[in-house]
Amino acid sequence: MPFVIRSEEPGDEEAIDLVNFRAFMVHHTEGGVPRVDEHDLVRYLRAYCPGFDRRRSITAWDKQRCVGHALFTPARIRLLGETVDALAVGPVAVDPGYQRQGIGGELLWFGHELGREEGFGVAFLCGHPSYYPRHGYVPCHGFAKVTIDLERLPPSSGTLHALPVTSADVPWLVACGEVEWADVDFGWLWGDALTEWSAPGAIALMWWTEDGRRAAYTLADPRGRWRHVLGDDPDSVREALYAIRPTTLDHHPSGWLARNVLDPGWSVVEVERGDPAMACELQEGALGPLLNALESGTRPPGCVNWALPFILIP
Ligand SMILES: CC(C)(COP(=O)(O)OP(=O)(O)OC[C@H]1O[C@@H](n2cnc3c(N)ncnc32)[C@H](O)[C@@H]1OP(=O)(O)O)[C@@H](O)C(=O)NCCC(=O)NCCS
Repeated sequence: MPFVIRSEEPGDEEAIDLVNFRAFMVHHTEGGVPRVDEHDLVRYLRAYCPGFDRRRSITAWDKQRCVGHALFTPARIRLLGETVDALAVGPVAVDPGYQRQGIGGELLWFGHELGREEGFGVAFLCGHPSYYPRHGYVPCHGFAKVTIDLERLPPSSGTLHALPVTSADVPWLVACGEVEWADVDFGWLWGDALTEWSAPGAIALMWWTEDGRRAAYTLADPRGRWRHVLGDDPDSVREALYAIRPTTLDHHPSGWLARNVLDPGWSVVEVERGDPAMACELQEGALGPLLNALESGTRPPGCVNWALPFILIP
């Protein structure tokens, strides 16, 4: 094959943007106007994800032209009560003029090999259910949704006030995240950089009590849809929920919030395994116990709390 597959090098950024634009434009044209999210996703991951590493940004070249790109982002995830080093995969893009020549497969193989050598356990993504299984992916996580009945949600005492998230909040946020995601599968443990909790476009708020205690963190995407709520005291988190009055959230049924804060009188937590929600083993046996637990029904399917860059795109 005449294509060169290699890690991104300084100066490749615009060529990578272009190949993502070309590959996804075909899928996202609305009334003739291209609406392409994935080249923004690469830019956001580059800017806001501290784990971004150009070695894991894999490119394919036909002479001087970038014709393919696949991005692998390191993620510490919770899996069956363990913290596992994983790779979040995406976007994967091949220039439409170069598709069906094996480039997509080569990019995945290169990224997987690199991850395998460095000890990453699994790679996970949301993608085409008929494409990724040929590269070792199986459906093993899903999509969760909390629906809240605002009619039944008790009124707030109105005592909390919101401020933007700052770097001083980050240790508290990391600790709350570890508690929230301790017993979930495919829970992405967000780390200790401010940009993992707050980034331009996202509505990330820290709620404070009148006596100066942190009560809760709430995150909405740029469309104003509430996505996550975290905290360490059920009453304070409930106060924050009363304040923001979300109709839906993306929480996992085994998370701390679902078990300690949500009340079946006003909320329903659902999770369903999804064909596009797939993962593949990079170390032999890394997914076996989870797949067995899912088959036997002893664990609910997990759902990835995708890092901020993924929720910034429409
Ligand atoms: C998906 C994609 C990365 C595959 O790249 P590629 O270099 O064409 O893939 P390969 O040559 O390794 O494999 C080609 C095979 O994948 C199949 N394939 C390609 N796109 C597919 C899709 N969207 N769904 C299912 N199968 C697909 C082809 O039919 C072909 O199968 P065949 O060999 O049986 O004919 C490329 O088509 C692409 O960039 N698509 C647009 C962007 C996109 O959807 N990315 C994936 C996001 S999850």
